[in-house]
Amino acid sequence: MATTRVLTGITTSGTPHLGNYVGAIRPALAASRAPGVESFYFLADYHALIKVQDPARVQRSTLEIAAAWLACGLDPEKVRFYRQSDIPETTELTWLLACVAGKGLLNRAHAYKAANDRNREAGEDEDAGVTAGLYMYPVLMAADILLFNAHKVPVGRDQVQHIEMARDFAQRFNHLYGDACFVLPEAAIEEQVATLPGLDGRKMSKSYDNVIPLFAPREQLRKLIASIVTDSRAPGEPKDTEGSALFEIYRAFASADETAAMRQAYADGIGWGDAKQQLFERIDAEVAPMRERYDALMADPGRIEALLRDGAASLRESHAIPTMRRLRDAVGLRDLGGAGAAGAKVGAAGSSAAGAAGGAKAALPVFKQYREADGRFHFKLVDGERVLLLSRGFESPKDAGARIAALRRDGFAGADADVSLGEGVEAADVRTALEALRAADEAKA
Ligand code: TRP
Repeated sequence: MATTRVLTGITTSGTPHLGNYVGAIRPALAASRAPGVESFYFLADYHALIKVQDPARVQRSTLEIAAAWLACGLDPEKVRFYRQSDIPETTELTWLLACVAGKGLLNRAHAYKAANDRNREAGEDEDAGVTAGLYMYPVLMAADILLFNAHKVPVGRDQVQHIEMARDFAQRFNHLYGDACFVLPEAAIEEQVATLPGLDGRKMSKSYDNVIPLFAPREQLRKLIASIVTDSRAPGEPKDTEGSALFEIYRAFASADETAAMRQAYADGIGWGDAKQQLFERIDAEVAPMRERYDALMADPGRIEALLRDGAASLRESHAIPTMRRLRDAVGLRDLGGAGAAGAKVGAAGSSAAGAAGGAKAALPVFKQYREADGRFHFKLVDGERVLLLSRGFESPKDAGARIAALRRDGFAGADADVSLGEGVEAADVRTALEALRAADEAKA
C-alpha cells in the first residue's frame, strides 16, 4: 500500500507551553495514528542555533521538547523520532541544495525580509545582525524535508513559504540531475487548529512572555491560570465568551458539551474565580498523567539520548546514507575509477541520474539511457561491468523511460521484442537485479 510520508521539525529553542501542545503536539500525534501515514518528527536543533547562541539553553530545550513529545504519547516504535544534528547528511544536502537555490528567492524569504525591514526602520544597514544562517534557513529546512522524500509537511501558515521554496529547489535539482532525485513536498496546513491565547489575551508565545508552560507543576499551573486577564465584571453579571482568553483556552481542552456548559455559565454570570478554577481542573485533568511521565523522563536524560541516537542511526542506515550516496553520484561527486566507462551524458535522454552510477563498483544495478547513431533512444540495464539487458531503439526518451518504468514496476517476464538479454545472462539475473532496485526504492520511498 502506498503510504504518505509526513515530516515535521520542532525548533529546539524554548520550553513547551500549552500553545505548542494544542497547536502542534496534540494534532501531530493524532495524525501520526492515522492509517497509511509514516511520520517523521524531529528536533530541529541546527535550526535552533540560528536563534539561540546559548549552548546550555539549546541542550536544555532539546531535552525538554523530546521529553514533552514522548510524555504526550509519541510512540518511538511507530514514529521516526530523531534529532536533526544526529543526521549529518542533512548539512551535506544543504550544500547541494544551496548550489541550486536562487539567491533572489532567498532574498524574498519572510524572516529575512522582516529583519531587513526592522534594520531599515532603525536606520541601520539592512543586513545588520543578519547571519548567513538566517539567510540559509529555508535551504536547511528544504534539506530536512527532501533528504527523506517527505510528501506532506504539516506547518503553520508562517512556514508555508519555506515549503514552496523546498519545492522550488527540488524542482531545479530534478531538472538538472534527473527526476528521480526528489519527491516534491506539499505543505499541510492545519486549518481548524486555533492558536491559543496567552495570559494577556494575545497569541500565546514566548516572545510575548505570556505563556503557560505545558508541564508547570500543579500549583504553578493554578497560579498562572489565576493570572489570565479578564474584565472587571463581578460574579452574577453575565459575561462575554467573545474575546475571552479564558473561554478560548477552556474550549481547547474541553469537549463540545463541556464548552456549551461553560458558555451557559458565562451567560449566567459565573464569577471569574470559579471559571478559573474550572479551567484549572480541566487542564490539569488532561495534563497530570503526562506531567508524571514528563518528570520521569526528565529525571533520566540518558534514556532519551539513547532513544534519539537509535532513531537517527537506523534512519541514516535505511535512508540518509543511501540517499546521499545517490545524490553525490547524481551531481558528479563520484568514484574516479569508473570515469572512462561511464561515457558522456546523453543530451535529451538525460539518463536517470539518481540511479546512474558512474563507478564500475556501484553497488546497485542501473538503467542507462543513451542515443544511438540512428537517432533512436535505447537503454540497458547494467550491473557493474555486466550488461544484463539491452533495449531496442525507441522513438523518444519518454518511450524508453516508460519501458524502464514498466520493468521496474512489473518485473521481467522474459526477453521480448523490446528488450533482449545480454551475453550469457539468464532471465533470473535480470529479476534479481530488478528486485535489488525495488528494495532500494522502497528503502528510499
Ligand atoms: N522552521 C520550522 C518552524 O520553525 C521548524 C522546521 C525545521 C521544520 N525544519 C523543518 C518544519 C522541516 C517542517 C519541516 O516551525
